[in-house]
Amino acid sequence: MSLLDPDDWEAFGASAHRMLDDAIEYMRTVRERPAWQPVPQSAKEALTESAPREGQPLDAVYGAFKEHILPYPTGNIHPRFWGMVKGTGTPVSMMADMLAAAMNSNVSGFDQSATYVELETIGWLVELFGLPSETGGLFVSGGTPANMLGLLVARNARAPFDARTEGLSAGPRLRVYASTQTHAWLKRACNIIGIGERAVCEIPTDSRHRILLSELRASIAHDRSQGLVPFCVVGNAGTVNAGATDDLRALAEVCRSEGLWFHVDGAFGALTVLTQKYKAVADGMQLADSIAFDLHKWGYLSYDIGCVLVRDGAEHRAALANPAPYANNVYNVNGFASTYPLLFADLGVQLSRSFRALKVWMAFKTYGTTRLGEAIEHNIEQAQYLAELVRESDDFELLAPAELNVVCFRYKTPGKDERECNVYNAELLAQLQQSGAALPTSTILDGRFAIRVAITNHRTTFEDIDMLLDTLRRCAVGLEAQVPR
Ligand SMILES: Cc1ncc(COP(=O)(O)O)c(C=O)c1O
Repeated sequence: MSLLDPDDWEAFGASAHRMLDDAIEYMRTVRERPAWQPVPQSAKEALTESAPREGQPLDAVYGAFKEHILPYPTGNIHPRFWGMVKGTGTPVSMMADMLAAAMNSNVSGFDQSATYVELETIGWLVELFGLPSETGGLFVSGGTPANMLGLLVARNARAPFDARTEGLSAGPRLRVYASTQTHAWLKRACNIIGIGERAVCEIPTDSRHRILLSELRASIAHDRSQGLVPFCVVGNAGTVNAGATDDLRALAEVCRSEGLWFHVDGAFGALTVLTQKYKAVADGMQLADSIAFDLHKWGYLSYDIGCVLVRDGAEHRAALANPAPYANNVYNVNGFASTYPLLFADLGVQLSRSFRALKVWMAFKTYGTTRLGEAIEHNIEQAQYLAELVRESDDFELLAPAELNVVCFRYKTPGKDERECNVYNAELLAQLQQSGAALPTSTILDGRFAIRVAITNHRTTFEDIDMLLDTLRRCAVGLEAQVPR
């Protein structure tokens, strides 16, 4: 008898089947619920119990889950959730996560099926991105760690001293260049890899939020004249604020001529390579030394899964591998371990790793990359449609060109100054969010508060987009009844 396995597997199976049926129903009926709702006090209180010393029946625990947890999610599986940049997940990725949990593989390496699934799926991505076969890669928990790994490999490969062994005190200060529109992962990564947030040189952008190449070149030259050491340029394929993509081909050329590492943050924009119509958006990305992107955003997989690809797999391993005698593959019968004792653990931060690759494998095989690409195309077209509705309207205005899947706009407030307009739009957005009808979030562009719709959602329809502006108008009427204009 086991202390933790069920005594009665049949009864456990009945409960588990109920949970699975409920989960499928929950997904099927998601449109009938609010896009988001605040967590009520009762649920918050229910989640402050002290540690349970004694167990209770699984069905009772599941009952508490259904009451206090399940109804109050982020909202990102809803068709009208367009906040931050969040993916929806699919029924197939839900099942893949469950099956991966059943196997409970630890994917640091070893001669086990999960190893070959990860090698195969990374290989698919290398092929789809048009990268050379020596490219190495790793699934990680998201865009932030994927980008951080790219930057770490860049640091070790391009610092003019042995940063990996000796640390940063062994050499002059390093500099990395990226546009002002780059996501906050960059400073966080600079902090974590020890080069410090001040290593980031922020380069201004043009009216389309793309890095200014002349400013980039001038900053590199200036830094060199001051004794600083440029080592990396980060290009964006889809900025978080407005979905802008830098001229990646031109950035690759700057890096080539300056001897710098070229890293691309393609957290969501990179997967435009799966489309037929928008392949050219991230043109030049295939010239990068490293690329980071998420599969839990525009890959529509369940959380969490990001990926880093490094053009020279040997450089990737050299940056991180730590052979350890206790980690040798005792099961090895084919020489595998003598080449790569740990394989995946040698490419990242995690030693123990989950079987994330299974959901890539199952989703890509079930849907095919063509269909996934079509879903991305739909989202871009829905964003273009929303931008057009805003442009044609008298009462809304665009605050940034909507070139991909992100639309930044605001309600016009004639007679109010910029500050009052910002406050008004923040209130309007809050009303919309509280209504549960839809969930865009916001950003600030050039000091202006923008309602920001980022569509990485395979459930969104064009009717959902129509509904957004109408609902905002109704919220504005409600707001005007409360707040004299
Ligand atoms: C452009 C960009 N880069 C990086 C990230 C960070 O990705 P993650 O949230 O998966 O860590 C995001 C998240 O939205 C993003 O939009």
